[in-house]
Amino acid sequence: MDKRPIGMFDSGVGGLTVLKEFQKKFSNEDIIYYGDTKSFPYGNKSKESIINLSKKGIEFLLKKNVKVIIIACGTATSQALDEVSKLYNIPIFGIIYPTVSYIVNNNNFKKVGILGTHGTIKSKSFENNLLALNPSLQIISRACPLLAPIAEEGLTNSDIAKLTIHKYMKGLHDVDALILGCTHYPLFTNLFKKEVSEKTELINTGVILSNYLYNNLNKDLFNNSNNIGIIKVYLTDVECDFLNVASKILKTDISQINIFPVSA
Ligand code: DGL
Repeated sequence: MDKRPIGMFDSGVGGLTVLKEFQKKFSNEDIIYYGDTKSFPYGNKSKESIINLSKKGIEFLLKKNVKVIIIACGTATSQALDEVSKLYNIPIFGIIYPTVSYIVNNNNFKKVGILGTHGTIKSKSFENNLLALNPSLQIISRACPLLAPIAEEGLTNSDIAKLTIHKYMKGLHDVDALILGCTHYPLFTNLFKKEVSEKTELINTGVILSNYLYNNLNKDLFNNSNNIGIIKVYLTDVECDFLNVASKILKTDISQINIFPVSA
């Protein structure tokens, strides 16, 4: 049994969709969430910048004595996971490998849509890993760079969101699985549902990753106490609407969310 917290990071509110799933699956785990709001968005930055920002996030979390690190971000997983895994002596997990393995293990998935930031789509990380395991998959990848900023503004149910999603979904209506490859995108689930056929499964990577870790994480790392886990959020810039958006995502009263600034 290991009572140390789980560490998690993303550029902003998106990773909270992952945190929310962890709260369900690992309700007694403490979680330290690092939101790099100062560097948002990650999606249009170079690979080198994403590696450096990921290192900063990981080093912050290591100082908080976390036992495992979750990259709750498609952009950082696709561009930095391989590099940072070699640098630190702690288990680090991202959203791509568990999602890829979920997709290839379902024989009904023949046509797969991948949505993500520019960085994620450019990296071809989802695509190459999927095709390496199942070369017969038909894959359509699409960058949706406007969606994360819309989510950060708390406009996930707005007309702007509706129009933007409609535009990005062109040609993707009949896929068997639609990977929401940026952790901000599950915040638009209702709008995506309106754009796809009944057979399409929307893939929330936070659900997949939390299930994967529940089944595969070394059991010695679990906190088996009966306490309800405490969530602490650290932001690199607190001058943003994070708290309001976060309370909607986590369906929690604002006063229940512990937010701290990351001092430079
Ligand atoms: N939520 C992140 C992702 O999964 C980052 C989005 C952004 O900062 O552009 O890619």
